[in-house]
Amino acid sequence: MNNSQLKQLLDSYRQRFEDKLHFFLPLSSTIPSRLHEAMRYSSVDAGKRIRPFLVYATGKALDVPIEQLDYPAVAIELIHNYSLVHDDMPAMDDDELRRGKPTCHLHYDEATALLVGDALQSQAFEVLSSAGNIAAEKLVKIIHLLAVASGSKGMAGGQAIDLDSVGERLNFSSLQQMHELKTGALIRASVKMATVLADNTKIKVDDYQNKLENYAKCLGLAFQIQDDVLDIESDTQTLGKPQGSDQAHNKPTYPSLIGLEESKNMAKKMVADALDNIKEFDHHADPLRWLAEYVVQRNY
Ligand code: IPE
Ligand code: IPE
Ligand code: MG
Ligand code: MG
Ligand code: MG
Repeated sequence: MNNSQLKQLLDSYRQRFEDKLHFFLPLSSTIPSRLHEAMRYSSVDAGKRIRPFLVYATGKALDVPIEQLDYPAVAIELIHNYSLVHDDMPAMDDDELRRGKPTCHLHYDEATALLVGDALQSQAFEVLSSAGNIAAEKLVKIIHLLAVASGSKGMAGGQAIDLDSVGERLNFSSLQQMHELKTGALIRASVKMATVLADNTKIKVDDYQNKLENYAKCLGLAFQIQDDVLDIESDTQTLGKPQGSDQAHNKPTYPSLIGLEESKNMAKKMVADALDNIKEFDHHADPLRWLAEYVVQRNY
């Protein structure tokens, strides 16, 4: 795939995703309108949409019909958006800006932000369980994957370790574990959900599964390391969230443990490992390759 074909494909995924997200979120005019408006405020028309891209790109590599991928793509982003709304609240990172706008609890209020998180999480499972074009057995697997990745053994668990570790110097393996859960779990789930949808009769999924899971694991780690690096090196305007928040809150990060340069090297190494895992895949995996590079090249 050449660059312009790739760009066209990624643009089409983005447009498709935004349309589906609009469709699945309740209208702001639906009662209770303030809650529905706040859910949209925190979800629509913003964000890099990395996790939905991963769903579509993995599906592309495995020849999954795009109409089936919409459901996990929307569901994973809803969970991610809920995690951001709660992550910004005073009891967690206490941040004022998200995606270039005041955070949900400041634009609305804390109780609303709590409910937005709750409702986005439920909405994710409502969307998934409404997928009439996915075989029931596969759907149950996907729902299970997303539930585990979101909960105490996944994202929420990672957030708990993050909060418990404020001001502490974690050792390397604990830091890595925290990152693998708080960010890695949803990134891995994006890839795994799409893998479940591959047609076993057409594709030998076993040949792909481990490699794709390793790809996702490396990518997830690189993604959070880069997030930590950008918190130091970027600026608030570009990031759309407060630069320096980690240091201000004494957060355990890769740069705080191994230094900035070493963190950048490690992120690059992780991207190289991610790419290595899919090196035998054909050109249908090019969007996955692009995403791996993007994770460390991005500036927000
Ligand atoms: C930010 O995620 C929080 C982390 C898990 C590091 P993203 O960088 O994907 O945020 P958006 O969705 O693009 O705003
Ligand atoms: C947040 O990590 C991870 C989740 C929201 C699960 P961060 O706290 O580093 O994310 P940002 O930097 O606020 O986006
Ligand atoms: Mg946080
Ligand atoms: Mg945060
Ligand atoms: Mg961060």
